[in-house]
Amino acid sequence: MRKKVIAGNWKMNMLPNEAIQMINDLEPLVKGTENEVILCVPYIDIFYATLNAQNTNIKIGAQNMHFEEKGAYTGEISGQMLKSVGVDYVIIGHSERRQYFMETDEIVNKKVKSAFKYGLLPIVCVGETLEQRESGNAYDIITNQTEKALDGLEISQIENTIIAYEPVWAIGTGKTATSEDANDAIKEIRKKIGGKYGQDTAERVIILYGGSMKPTNAKELLEMSDIDGGLIGGASLLADDFSKIVNYNK
Ligand code: 13P
Repeated sequence: MRKKVIAGNWKMNMLPNEAIQMINDLEPLVKGTENEVILCVPYIDIFYATLNAQNTNIKIGAQNMHFEEKGAYTGEISGQMLKSVGVDYVIIGHSERRQYFMETDEIVNKKVKSAFKYGLLPIVCVGETLEQRESGNAYDIITNQTEKALDGLEISQIENTIIAYEPVWAIGTGKTATSEDANDAIKEIRKKIGGKYGQDTAERVIILYGGSMKPTNAKELLEMSDIDGGLIGGASLLADDFSKIVNYNK
């Protein structure tokens, strides 16, 4: 039985004082949930967030990392650095990074490998654009992105990778994939993993849905057979909204 993972992606929002406040507000609201609660925060907030989340069930993630350990990469942060300040998870290959920062499948794969090397669990984002969806290529795109991201990993690492299916057209638009569409796409991703690495492995991989998930639509999405959780942008910025998604099954 796969556990449910509810991960917030704050993107480029929240100053350190706001991050501290949010975590303090969220902590009592999500205490006791059996679901995994993760907040992926901007680099500048990480130190405060990990300190404030200590002794709580809230885990802290980053939103990106460089694949090298150290060196002349001005402005970059490595997996080793993230680990040293108590980060557990890292989002890799978010569509905004693919779109605005030229991240390729090859870079995503290098980052995933580097994340494991430094003891971080990657949350790998895959998703099709509206154009790709309309031309009937969505499943090819997302299964391809998944295959390339996982290339060369050990089975145990694949089983510990979280995939987030985030259709680009549903991000920040208020448009959500229907629960059936999201579930079918995730099944397709699982099938691809099964075909390459075996059914047992495919059944263990946690696959999230992301794209305008809100307290009002979370339950329906999260009760689908193959949707193992959510990667939540806008609705993760308010403790009240985010906690309602975490507690969708209460
Ligand atoms: P929204 O929930 O704001 O649509 O963002 C989704 C997302 O991109 C999470 O990574």
